[in-house]
Amino acid sequence: MKILIFTNKTRAIARAAEMIAERIEANPRSVLGLATGGTMLDLYSALVELVRKRGLSFAQVSSFNLDEYVGLPPEHPASYHSYMRECLFSKVDIPPENTHLPHGDADDLYEEAAMYERLIVQSGGIDLQLLGIGQNGHIGFNEPSSSLASRTRVKTLTASTQAANAPYFERPDQMPKLALTMGVGTILDSRECLLVAIGSAKASAVAAMVEGPVTAACPASVLQFHQKATIILDQDAASDLKLRDYYQFVHPEECVEP
Ligand code: GLP
Repeated sequence: MKILIFTNKTRAIARAAEMIAERIEANPRSVLGLATGGTMLDLYSALVELVRKRGLSFAQVSSFNLDEYVGLPPEHPASYHSYMRECLFSKVDIPPENTHLPHGDADDLYEEAAMYERLIVQSGGIDLQLLGIGQNGHIGFNEPSSSLASRTRVKTLTASTQAANAPYFERPDQMPKLALTMGVGTILDSRECLLVAIGSAKASAVAAMVEGPVTAACPASVLQFHQKATIILDQDAASDLKLRDYYQFVHPEECVEP
């Protein structure tokens, strides 16, 4: 794992946006695995700015999102379909037919999940998978106890995940209890992973992911088995890491004071 610790959120987000832009420059046909959540809001706005500045094109890029709430149609304002349209897809030149999210309102969720897996394989597989992390160590919506070999499927959300995401809904009781999510195994199949965590609320999950045992109790810890995973953190998210000085010694240029 490559652990990059930045003095503040702005620098961490800027580096993550830069990494995505670099990959698209190197391979304009990149297949991106995309994530949602508050951290990604900042990341997508930094990426959109960078794309404009550099005149980068997403015309040949394709994307697969990690997850979607069960029962929400794509046009629901709190769906991840809407989130992606508003934060990224409407702001870059990615053709809508190149963007994919699981359909949480499908009649047959098992068939939808199997089809999503097939589509990823048909696209050639994910080149760069973007990830956030839940306070309980979830990635996508793979909650603790998710099989580390799991594929796209329906998961029941924990009470803490429901509480963390309820503010995105008009009324807390509208918050879905189920989601369709890529599995941990699906995520592991990506050629490269980039996980971004900001703020002290993520510190213990980050420590468990990087320095704890590989365990289904912290699904993100499976990234220890990934061939190419970069973890971008601000100082607060890195604050519980025991080997923090070592990571900063390995990549000192990431930690200089502004
Ligand atoms: C949701 C998403 C995850 C994301 C997590 C953290 O649960 N399904 O993919 O990592 O939120 O989001 P935030 O950045 O808002 O803390």
